[in-house]
Amino acid sequence: VTTSTGPLGVFDSGVGGLTVVGALLRRFPSERVLYVADQAHVPYGERPLEEVCGFATEISRFLASQGCRAIVMACNISSATALPSVSARLAPRPVLGVIAAAVRRAVLPPLLPPSQGWEPRIGVLATAGTVRSGAYSAQIRRLNPGARVIEVACPRFVPLVEAGELETEAACAAAREYLAPLAEAGCRTILLGCTHYPFLLSTLRRTAAELFDVPVTFIDPADEIADALRAALFDLGQVHHSAPNLLLTTGDPDVFRAQAPRFLPGAAFAVAPACWTSEGALSLPDRSAT
Ligand code: DGL
Repeated sequence: VTTSTGPLGVFDSGVGGLTVVGALLRRFPSERVLYVADQAHVPYGERPLEEVCGFATEISRFLASQGCRAIVMACNISSATALPSVSARLAPRPVLGVIAAAVRRAVLPPLLPPSQGWEPRIGVLATAGTVRSGAYSAQIRRLNPGARVIEVACPRFVPLVEAGELETEAACAAAREYLAPLAEAGCRTILLGCTHYPFLLSTLRRTAAELFDVPVTFIDPADEIADALRAALFDLGQVHHSAPNLLLTTGDPDVFRAQAPRFLPGAAFAVAPACWTSEGALSLPDRSAT
C-alpha cells in the first residue's frame, strides 16, 4: 500500500547504495529512508543476471510492503535487470534506477549535434554483470548515437570497498588496471557504473592523474538520481518525518553498524537485520516480521 507519508526505500548489495542515500539525505534532510543492504549476497556483479533480477524484485516488493512511497534501486546491476518489470508491478509508486541518471549526467551536458564532429568517448567502470547486460552502451547510444562507449568490468572493486579498502595498495593496483584501457582509448568522461565506486574516487583521481594526459571527469550518479526522485515526488507532495532512517542488512548487523558511519558520515540512522527465508522471501525477523 502506498502512503504519502511512507519512507523512501533504497537498496543495494552492500554499502555502495549509501552513496545514493547520502545524496538523498542532502536533498531531503527531513525525509525518512529505509535501506536494504543485501550483504548476504554481495557481490551481485559476478552472479547470473536472472538471479540478481530475482533479488532486486523481492527486495523492491519488501520495501513496498513496508510502506515505502518511492523505491530507488541504488544498484546498477539491479537497475539493468529488474527496473522495467518492478516499475510495472509497483506502479503508480515511482521506482527509479541509477543507470538512466548516470547516463543523463554523462551525455546531456555537452550535447552537440553529431554534425559538428563531436564524438564523445565515454568510459564506463562497472561490475561484470552490468557490463554483460549492455545497459550502459544501449542507454548512452539512445541519447547520443555518435558516442563511443568503452566498458570495463572491475571485479575487484566491490570486495575492496566492502572491506573498507579505499586507498590501499590493492585498491591502487586495481584502479591502474581498470583505468588503463580507458586512458588508451582517450576517454575524458568516466561513468562510475557501480554505486560502490564513488568511495574509491580519491584513488581513481590520483591514478587517472598518472595515466591520462588529459583531465578526466568522473561521474557519480548519486546527485542526479536524487534530483530525479525530487521530480518524481513533486506529484506526491513533500512530507517531513522525524522517525530515524533505518538501514537493514541481510548480512551481520554488527559489522554493518560498524561499517556504515564511515560510508555515510554525519547521518542519523539505526541498523537492523533482515533475512532471506528458505522460500526466497525477504523478511524482518522476530516481532516485526508480520
Ligand atoms: N553496487 C552495485 C551496483 O551498483 C552492486 C555491486 C555488486 O554487488 O557487485 O551494481
